[in-house]
Amino acid sequence: RDSKVHQNLLEDHSFINYKQNIEYVNIVRERLGRPLTYAEKILYGHLDDPHGQEIERGVSYLKLRPDRVACQDATAQMAILQFMSAGLPQVAKPLTVHCDHLIQAQIGGEKDLKRAIDINKEVYDFLATATAKYNMGFWKPGSGIIHQIVLENYAFPGALIIGTDSHTPNAGGLGQLAIGVGGADAVDVMSDLAWELKAPKIMGVKLTGRMNGWTSPKDIILKLAGITTVKGGTGKIVEYFGDGVDTFSATGMGTICNMGAEIGATTSVFPFNKSMIDYLDATGRDKIAQFAQLYHKDLLSADEGAEYDEIIEIDLNTLEPYVNGPFTPDLATPISKMKDVAVKNNWPLEVKVGLIGSCTNSSYEDMSRAASVVKDAATHGLKSKSIFTVTPGSEQIRATIARDGQLETFKEFGGTVLANACGPCIGQWDRQDIKKGDKNTIVSSFNRNFTARNDGNPDTHSFVASPEITTAFAIAGDLRFNPLTDTLKDKDGNEFMLKPPTGVGLPVKGYDPGENTYQAPPKDRSSVTVQVSPTSDRLQLLKPFKAWDGKDAFDMPILIKSLGKTTTDHISMAGPWLKYRGHLENISNNYMIGAINAENKKANCVKHHYTGEYAGVPDTARAYRDAGIRWVVIGGENFGEGSSREHAALEPRFLGGFAIITKSFARIHETNLKKQGMLPLNFAEPAAYDKINPDDTIDILGLTTLAPGKNLIMRVHPKEGEAWETPLSHTFNAEQIEWFKAGSALNRLANAKKA
Ligand code: F3S
Repeated sequence: RDSKVHQNLLEDHSFINYKQNIEYVNIVRERLGRPLTYAEKILYGHLDDPHGQEIERGVSYLKLRPDRVACQDATAQMAILQFMSAGLPQVAKPLTVHCDHLIQAQIGGEKDLKRAIDINKEVYDFLATATAKYNMGFWKPGSGIIHQIVLENYAFPGALIIGTDSHTPNAGGLGQLAIGVGGADAVDVMSDLAWELKAPKIMGVKLTGRMNGWTSPKDIILKLAGITTVKGGTGKIVEYFGDGVDTFSATGMGTICNMGAEIGATTSVFPFNKSMIDYLDATGRDKIAQFAQLYHKDLLSADEGAEYDEIIEIDLNTLEPYVNGPFTPDLATPISKMKDVAVKNNWPLEVKVGLIGSCTNSSYEDMSRAASVVKDAATHGLKSKSIFTVTPGSEQIRATIARDGQLETFKEFGGTVLANACGPCIGQWDRQDIKKGDKNTIVSSFNRNFTARNDGNPDTHSFVASPEITTAFAIAGDLRFNPLTDTLKDKDGNEFMLKPPTGVGLPVKGYDPGENTYQAPPKDRSSVTVQVSPTSDRLQLLKPFKAWDGKDAFDMPILIKSLGKTTTDHISMAGPWLKYRGHLENISNNYMIGAINAENKKANCVKHHYTGEYAGVPDTARAYRDAGIRWVVIGGENFGEGSSREHAALEPRFLGGFAIITKSFARIHETNLKKQGMLPLNFAEPAAYDKINPDDTIDILGLTTLAPGKNLIMRVHPKEGEAWETPLSHTFNAEQIEWFKAGSALNRLANAKKA
């Protein structure tokens, strides 16, 4: 148990720290005097101060020391730009950057990749040189999607990692806590600051029985999303247990943990088990598997009698495949009801496109099971009725399914194999088969289906399902098709039923690594120059934000009172904007352009409080800022749900915003706002949201005595009539209040270094 075991096969400077983890866990268990869940063990095993840390689930803020950081290319730019501005020589923790988000799907894998390398050259050059300079690993474009690469190379049981992407929890499939954060949190860990997380509550999900037929791990999380809704996991870690957890693959567990992000969970995790050992062995990490087994009982499983804050039970024996959507991943419909529900809701019934793969569902098992369905259809002379795309999650997956024949099967089916990258999942899709505004249906094996996310068309009804169900829909071309009960017609008009999918979890011949797409940092980093052109419209070095002026804020106009769901996609849209992720000035032109203005029910059309003129949200915000007027945003529930992008917080700060006042926030967005020196505040009396008119102006009082747990006062000045007041709550702790005062968390760090 005392041996030094490397975290992975690619780095010689990172080791697994079970010995310290278990020591810390024992300290905390004794202090708390109760058994611990598995998730708690991982968290408390990574505390900065196990003796002094206050621990109350759902209440305390934990200071943590994660094992590593992973960044995708879109979020890495701003994180690295921020890290650079702190002036440190190298990152404090092992970190990798993955080029996956900026590759647009157009024609197919190779050509799309070539074009992306061309278009994004300055960003890739920046990332390649900055990672080399500051001692980080760099995964080149074409290597695959961050979460798949992390699972294949870096994840190990009992680890705590953070990643600048909301689906980082994918690595929970290998028994680690992997938490999606904003770039600003990554900067903390890169700079050797303790990373702060509100101690999550623990939701236990008990799995019993075993799946069969068309049901797959994806259906577990699709069902759970239906039970909990998109908010049900907020502030919680989902910990799976029960005899059902040992009945499927580690990659299947990855899928479930990945999509835990859709219920707002901080992360999700499975306890260490045999499937994880098999996956570690298959990916060349048998030493880690052996090491983990030595710690299985005391560190890598829940204590007997561990208590969960709530328990949800799912019986795998009776679990049906689910189809979730449109427009939200928690609208869960079992396949047996889909026909009726689709007709009743007037959803477009023709399935225009079926898309499989992505970080959620592109394991060898997923591809093999989908290919088995395709092969079965082919024996009846059928090809895909819908357009069909395949996104391998990594170069290793692509090379392995190319070698083993599944890729050819998909091509013969009429499928297009896209680059190993995010592509249509994040709106990087040059879709040609419909026009914007055409009402249509697509089904994917992805995780997220918010309005316009995939193709920028708000009338696309996007559904998420397992790869095998997505494939069955593509064969039938119809949303009413239920492969468990319905027949299809073969090429001669005879009826037949598709056979349930089959496929092995791990490749019998082992994985084929494919092309080498990894760049390790050089031994001598002193001669590396980071490339940022001063004339670039994609990268811009950062200037610090101004510190707070020490006074209450008066008479601030409401930039927008947003109506309904306001996700990070509404706040800082992805798609074409991704290319400006490293350029704050340019990307700020997308601020809140997807949000609906409560006043006129329109997107990107708000009234300037003083001129009365209507203009776009970013233009109006800029006009206020340039006139020295601070402004606020009013929002509804779970404001900022969705992805981890800190641009959604940087932009309002850059455009002169002061406070975002909502009924409630999604965790990551709320923290991101605090990091940038904004005030995320909540209506202590939610009914106040309805009373506010977009024409009102707002005072925020009590800032000079801002303290944890102490409400502020909002005074509202209607255009006509008496001013009124309502209390505002907040979740700032003492350290976060210092961020606000300094103007940002980074300012606070720079000030501390100077002192
Ligand atoms: Fe990429 Fe979509 Fe996953 S954007 S990281 S494939 S959720």
